Amino acid sequence: MADLSLIENPTHAQLRMQINALLDPADAPVTLMANLSSLLFWSLAGLNWVGFYLIHGDRLLLGPFHGKPACTVIALGSGVCGTAARERRTMNVPDVAAFPGHIACDAASRSELVVPLVVAGRVWGVLDVDSPEIGRFDRDTQQLLEDAAGMFISRVENGSIFPA
Ligand code: SME
Repeated sequence: MADLSLIENPTHAQLRMQINALLDPADAPVTLMANLSSLLFWSLAGLNWVGFYLIHGDRLLLGPFHGKPACTVIALGSGVCGTAARERRTMNVPDVAAFPGHIACDAASRSELVVPLVVAGRVWGVLDVDSPEIGRFDRDTQQLLEDAAGMFISRVENGSIFPA
């Protein structure tokens, strides 16, 4: 069992180590997504939502998250999440009001960072992190969240949400 205690105001280096320890490859991807959402939410200041959307056909479906209830279905190419998934690149949006097509699940969200999750060459889903602060995600924080996504992907062997 991984150490589940939270570090108060962790450095990014401490958080990287904690993420790595929390992501036990013996756990199912759905379990890892749930705990990773919680860890990021409680460890990084100024966030109001952290979670996953998962590809199902040509849509993204709401997966495990931490925060208020959220939009359940997002078309590929739509909003920040759908754009990150279709274009396979991180979307760092400092002011969501300036992003055409932004999907406002929570009117409090002001900036957003979405990292695509590519497993075995296919987009599997996205990690979405929202903040009520404009410009919350600097380069270091973007790198941290991309590394967190990478650590998660490295544990997803066959791409299925539940173990066989
Ligand atoms: N704002 C996102 C939708 C997801 S919620 O923020 C949780 C978007 O535009 O894709």
